[in-house]
Amino acid sequence: MSRVVFYTATTLDGFLADPDDSLDWLMRQEQDHQGALNYEEFIAGIGALVMGSTTYEWVRDNLERSGEAWPYELPTWVMSSRDLPAVEGADLRFARGDVRAVHAAMLEAVGGPAGKDLWVVGGGDLAGQFADAGLLDEVVVYVAPVVLGAGRPLLPRRLDLELLEATQNKAFVAARYRVLGPLAEDRPA
Ligand SMILES: NC(=O)c1ccc[n+]([C@@H]2O[C@H](COP(=O)([O-])OP(=O)(O)OC[C@H]3O[C@@H](n4cnc5c(N)ncnc54)[C@H](OP(=O)(O)O)[C@@H]3O)[C@@H](O)[C@H]2O)c1
Repeated sequence: MSRVVFYTATTLDGFLADPDDSLDWLMRQEQDHQGALNYEEFIAGIGALVMGSTTYEWVRDNLERSGEAWPYELPTWVMSSRDLPAVEGADLRFARGDVRAVHAAMLEAVGGPAGKDLWVVGGGDLAGQFADAGLLDEVVVYVAPVVLGAGRPLLPRRLDLELLEATQNKAFVAARYRVLGPLAEDRPA
């Protein structure tokens, strides 16, 4: 069954990036690339990606600076209300509006509901839009030993989650949760 997974790193106080979209606090952390909940094993189970425009522009700007190639071979949906320039060699599909239509297109790209999982790369509100539509199945976080006090929020919604797995990967707490839905106290009686 193709699941929608929000796999991301976060600070202990729940930020994906600082207010200037810097990830310097993340890049200097130690991790075991073969360790718990590692990226290589995760991406092997993924068939398509979706990201918001801030994340896309951050990746694109970094590639321009470093001269590296687009890092994902998989079809990638970029959500934006603007017409953004594409990255050469990347399999990109720009979209806007309701994420349910994007989810349907992503499912089709992975061969239907029995296909590979779908990765919400970020940011937090985009993951929230999938949760609002009842489409977010799992959240996997690498919690860095950093607090920032302000920045781009991890998942600005009110949701109940169930902890499925929690372990250490070098500097990080690595944890996997199932999304249960809106907070119990927010649900109609
Ligand atoms: N810690 C990590 O591992 C990690 C992972 C991912 C990202 N990040 C960082 O976290 C930050 C996230 O930035 P962010 O919170 O601004 O989120 P984002 O999701 O990357 O970008 C948000 C923007 O995407 C566009 N968008 C989102 N949903 C849309 C929709 N349904 N229709 C049309 N457009 C839509 C809107 O911009 P426009 O319409 O104006 O284009 C919106 O302002 C970035 O700095 C990113 O690099 C960190």
